[in-house]
Amino acid sequence: STLGASAAERGGRYFGAAVAAGRLGDSTYVNILNREFTSVTPENEMKWDATEPSRNFFTYTGADRIVNHALGRGMKIRGHALLWHAQMPDWAEALSGSTLRSAMINHVTQVAAHYRGKIHSWDVVNEAFADGGSGGRRDSILQRTGNDWIEAAFRAARAADPGAKLCYNDYNTDGINPKSTAIYNMVRDFKARGVPIDCVGFQSHLGTSLSGDYQANLQRFADLGVDVQITELDVASGPNQAAIYASVTRACLAVSRCTGITVWGIRDSDSWRTGENPLLFDSWGNKKAAYTATLDAL
Ligand code: XIL
Repeated sequence: STLGASAAERGGRYFGAAVAAGRLGDSTYVNILNREFTSVTPENEMKWDATEPSRNFFTYTGADRIVNHALGRGMKIRGHALLWHAQMPDWAEALSGSTLRSAMINHVTQVAAHYRGKIHSWDVVNEAFADGGSGGRRDSILQRTGNDWIEAAFRAARAADPGAKLCYNDYNTDGINPKSTAIYNMVRDFKARGVPIDCVGFQSHLGTSLSGDYQANLQRFADLGVDVQITELDVASGPNQAAIYASVTRACLAVSRCTGITVWGIRDSDSWRTGENPLLFDSWGNKKAAYTATLDAL
């Protein structure tokens, strides 16, 4: 079997990978992508600096290559990400206050409208919460436009593409901790007030151990009435790598609203974690023990 086929047999879940447009000419890469995966997330091509390099000038060359590849093969697409404090274009970094606020909402509206009907789930807002124990929002120029910037972004995304699932996405949320609890409280508040949010993404850039309450954390979010997904999974190499992949997979399967898993790249040589070999395929495209453990868990 394959990751994608096995995940589909488990309640219609998807198994996806982050894809770089620049690698779509690499036949080893594309063969694995087409054989194993049923969802793609553009690794960088839909970020603000890529899609709106100057103000109100939009360009979708790299993103469209990935979108066309995926749609042609019936793969789902996770849009990533409409708003993030990183990989913003210089022109937007130079704005503040109400000017940044309107540029930000315009960006969400234009990009979501361009891809209307094609995106399964959008990461509307990425990484807006602080690391560590503060349990608060990250200090960023987006946050400084007003504490309601996240809900304004979700409302703009819903208006522009009513059919897409709208997700909040973050990292270091791999268990019940102050950061994940702060996000949990935001989602609960959004659901209570009717702010349109459908899903929460757990990036899951993992080290050499997995928090014992990883599954419980997914479940508490699901219990708020949102879907959850593992969105950027990669795991430090070492003796526990395969077991951690298996545990994450089982955790998702155990939560009925966990609708899919995405790994953040295909081969180790494709990973942003250079030298850490954190993926399911080695640099030559061979299946690793982590692959077999994941497939066995599905
Ligand atoms: C990373 C990409 O993998 C790199 O190619 C890029 O240089 C930096 O961004 N969290 C996210 C992703 O949400 O967008 C990041 O992707 C990894 C961390």
